[in-house]
Amino acid sequence: PHKKVEKICCLGAGYVGGPTCAVIAARNPHVQVTIVDLNALRIAAWNSDDLPIYEPGLDEVVKSCRGRNLFFSTDVDKAIIEADLIFVSVNTPTKTQGMGAGFAADLGYVESATRHIAKVAQGDKIVVEKSTVPCRTAQSMRFILEANARPGIHFDILSNPEFLAEGTAIADLMNPDRVLIGSLNTEAGRSAAASLVDIYAGWIKREQIITTNLWSSELTKLAANAMLAQRISSINALSAICEATGADVDEVSYACGLDTRIGPKFLKASVGFGGSCFQKDILNLVYLSESLHLPEVAAYWKQVVEMNEYQKKRFVNRIISCLFNTLTGKKIAILGFAFKKDTGDTRESPAITLCKYLRAERANVAIYDPKVAESQIWMDLTEPGITDDLAKLQKQISIADSAYAACKGADAVVVCTEWDEFRNTRLDYRKVYEMMNKPAFIFDGRLILDQKELESIGFHVEMIGRPR
Ligand code: NAD
Ligand code: UGA
Repeated sequence: PHKKVEKICCLGAGYVGGPTCAVIAARNPHVQVTIVDLNALRIAAWNSDDLPIYEPGLDEVVKSCRGRNLFFSTDVDKAIIEADLIFVSVNTPTKTQGMGAGFAADLGYVESATRHIAKVAQGDKIVVEKSTVPCRTAQSMRFILEANARPGIHFDILSNPEFLAEGTAIADLMNPDRVLIGSLNTEAGRSAAASLVDIYAGWIKREQIITTNLWSSELTKLAANAMLAQRISSINALSAICEATGADVDEVSYACGLDTRIGPKFLKASVGFGGSCFQKDILNLVYLSESLHLPEVAAYWKQVVEMNEYQKKRFVNRIISCLFNTLTGKKIAILGFAFKKDTGDTRESPAITLCKYLRAERANVAIYDPKVAESQIWMDLTEPGITDDLAKLQKQISIADSAYAACKGADAVVVCTEWDEFRNTRLDYRKVYEMMNKPAFIFDGRLILDQKELESIGFHVEMIGRPR
């Protein structure tokens, strides 16, 4: 018989810890869930009416159980002591220095969270790796926990990677394709896994809750992200061929996707993928392959990231060459700064790379995004530590409070994020055309615009994956 979990603690109140544990609390009213973070401002925001992340449906879920069985706190020790099961959902960014810099995951936050659990715990715990980590990290966590545990205390370690996508996090959590739980194949390991299965069974069918060994579970997370990103790089590579030949990438994608072996999802050509995880997790896989002395495997996956960089650069080159090979002093309106629609997250957003390239061409850039905070945009476009940079930046870059304000007096409009409000049905492109310099160019990096209609207004339109 396995243990019934009554109290859960989650270390890390970020994009994953917050929504995931809020849904767990909403669907398990008899389980007490406490989400803790070292960042007091973030916790204060979770306890306010203005949640720290924008995610459709999140407000309702949090409001339905906050103060009942869902709590946000900075009291990490208390939450650890009380919990039977602890999610570790802290950040695992790419290392910026030292061995593996630029590729390997920085496991410093995972390790310090693990040490903290060992130091504070006064009874047995199930420790769940929720963060995305390299294969065999659970082994290191066990080693640290066992070496630092108080006498007689037992820890079980599970891997339970998260597959939610931002912008659809609540829908993904409520109705996931699968939940994956990895454990040691021992009696204690299987019993710990069964305890976590019970939590998810609060709203998910048993057959969708998959259990595997620890290492398969850890590797599956990296594999799934690598395969998803690979599809985008594949269609983006084809978009370059389309532009040069007269094929239309949306048509190619649609026709390929009808083959049930290929399927239609994740085949939308774009200016490039962004987000905090695809690039980081692929580089992590590249590093893992290299450490295992598998250079061919490493090179294979690395190409997915290189193709993505190429796609961003190619798009900027197209803008430059269409605008008569000079952007100096021209105004470019950037519509959308988030890495995808329905999120305010800008981590690794292609818009950041684009703005940097455009700035180097001495263009004046006006940015509009419906959800990204102005301070975030300045942070993304400045190099940390360079103080006079912001003043210099603001001579070239401005932030607009509407799409129209960004487009006023512009030579070109560039759609970087597929927000619904930029679609032809929502934005009055006649009005946009009237207020722009002529010839008026539109570059659609997301394939959301109606090219024919825009051309009939008078625009010169350039779409990813359609011939020039
Ligand atoms: P995040 O940066 O939004 O949140 C991590 C939080 O952990 C931060 O608020 C930080 O202050 C906190 N933290 C760090 N050390 C701590 C400690 N010792 N105790 C308590 N709190 C601590 O990151 P995120 O986007 O939520 O990602 C977390 C993990 O989940 C990463 O490994 C990521 O790869 C993975 N992941 C992310 C997504 C996504 O869509 N963002 C999806 C699946 C998996
Ligand atoms: C992705 C995965 O989809 C999640 O399953 C995973 O849990 C998560 O990474 C993670 O580990 O962090 P996310 O990055 O939030 O989720 O968002 P996606 O919907 O995957 O989009 C990523 C990027 O790819 C965006 O910039 C998006 O615009 C782009 N994209 C997506 C395309 O260019 N074309 C597509 O067809 C799909």
